[in-house]
Amino acid sequence: MTGGIGIVEQKPSGRIIQLLLDEPNAYYADPFDIAVTPDGKKAFVSHAGVNCISVIDIDAVRKLISESDDRMLTAYSNYLGTSSRIVLKRIPTGANPKGMALSPDGKKLYVAEHLEDRIAVISTESLETIGNISLGGPRRITVAREGRRLLNNAGHTFQSQYSCYTCHPDTHEDGLVYNMASKDMGRNMTNTQSLRNIGDTPPYKWNGKNQSIYKQDGMRFSTVLTRNEAFSYKELDAITAYIMSGVPNPPNLVYNPDGKLTEAQKRGKDIFQRSHDSKGFEIPVVNRCVTCHPAPYFTNKKMTGVGTLAATDDSILFDVPHLNNIVYSPPYLHDGRAATLEEIWTLYGKTEEHGAVNDLTKTQLNDLVEYLKSLRDPEYEQKTSEIHNASFIHKLFK
Ligand code: HEC
Ligand code: HEC
Repeated sequence: MTGGIGIVEQKPSGRIIQLLLDEPNAYYADPFDIAVTPDGKKAFVSHAGVNCISVIDIDAVRKLISESDDRMLTAYSNYLGTSSRIVLKRIPTGANPKGMALSPDGKKLYVAEHLEDRIAVISTESLETIGNISLGGPRRITVAREGRRLLNNAGHTFQSQYSCYTCHPDTHEDGLVYNMASKDMGRNMTNTQSLRNIGDTPPYKWNGKNQSIYKQDGMRFSTVLTRNEAFSYKELDAITAYIMSGVPNPPNLVYNPDGKLTEAQKRGKDIFQRSHDSKGFEIPVVNRCVTCHPAPYFTNKKMTGVGTLAATDDSILFDVPHLNNIVYSPPYLHDGRAATLEEIWTLYGKTEEHGAVNDLTKTQLNDLVEYLKSLRDPEYEQKTSEIHNASFIHKLFK
């Protein structure tokens, strides 16, 4: 995996040019923010995964572009040789540098060292760190916080190409589908899963083969994915502690600003919980949504088949997925084949194995989908009365 910047030429038929900030044997994972000095001479990019800031010489970028033909410019998105021409310096920072801001005169760069609870102050002339502002974070670094730093750091992957965060940004998921198998290329494709609030929803992975987070990120992780040394037991403890401590889902405010179900969602909830179809026939227990997806996590934590095996999948069962905040995790199904919640049933799942839906009208399916979009964490549910209280929202995002 590579990281870099994109330049959009602002002129008729302007091109989009992508330049990597990585070097042949060293990668600068998780570029997060960019700040450009008022004189347009320097740009700063924070690399959240490797604790440093790249300083880019913008005149060198202009020169590189003017000396390159269109074919070369297209090739640069895969070329590790340009960074030595455009990067002036890499400035080390504290843990997990993210947002940045320049002073109005452009002389100082402020960097939020997210997991250091500190703001670094960097001189844009000497390119040295000249001070920092403490945000009064905890003195003691707990095991879970150590795990959080590990999850956000690329130090444990081959040449620092990526971190857990790269695929699980903000402990969520990147919406992409990966082929993780170390053999059998092109088989058993899987859609990245969110890491939010999964402590109570074992087993893990789509195929449910991992009974614990500990196993999920243990030895096999390094064999299959990082091709590097495995986490030490201490590191593994820390990363597991962080995930198990329950990274909260953000509030699902999109569809329920006042915390109440809309009329459509109420109708959808009835369909989700129903035991009889619209003609009054009893729906077999195994075909009812609530059988497999009961509250509070909307999973019975069991393995089952719902007719979604692809031709490229081994013959396996799937761990019933939890559905809180499902609205924020498209695409859907284990291989991400459904771009929207509707598609789970309009394009796929027509055999009735994945819930009885064939008697539903289009409007009823819409209602069911509206209800699915409203699902959220139980702890959050208790707080709905406070939802208009800004300080509560503030606390959640902190
Ligand atoms: C290259 C992208 C990528 C990286 C890097 C990555 N993951 Fe994942 N993660 C995935 C995918 C894809 C799945 C689903 C895998 C499957 O079901 O076979 C997944 C699943 C998981 C699950 C299971 C979640 C559940 O609800 O069952 C956990 C836990 C997890 N990852 C943690 C981590 C941790 C911790 C790291 C870093 C040490 C990490 N991942 C790095 C892509 C990635
Ligand atoms: C027999 C158990 C079972 C029943 C009944 C069932 N589901 Fe599922 N559900 C699953 C399994 C297993 C998957 C994962 C399938 C896959 O990824 O290929 C799934 C996936 C989903 C997903 C996608 C989750 C994601 O993260 O991509 C949603 C949404 C969903 N079900 C909602 C429903 C609704 C609504 C109903 C009723 C109409 C229903 N399910 C009935 C077992 C069931």
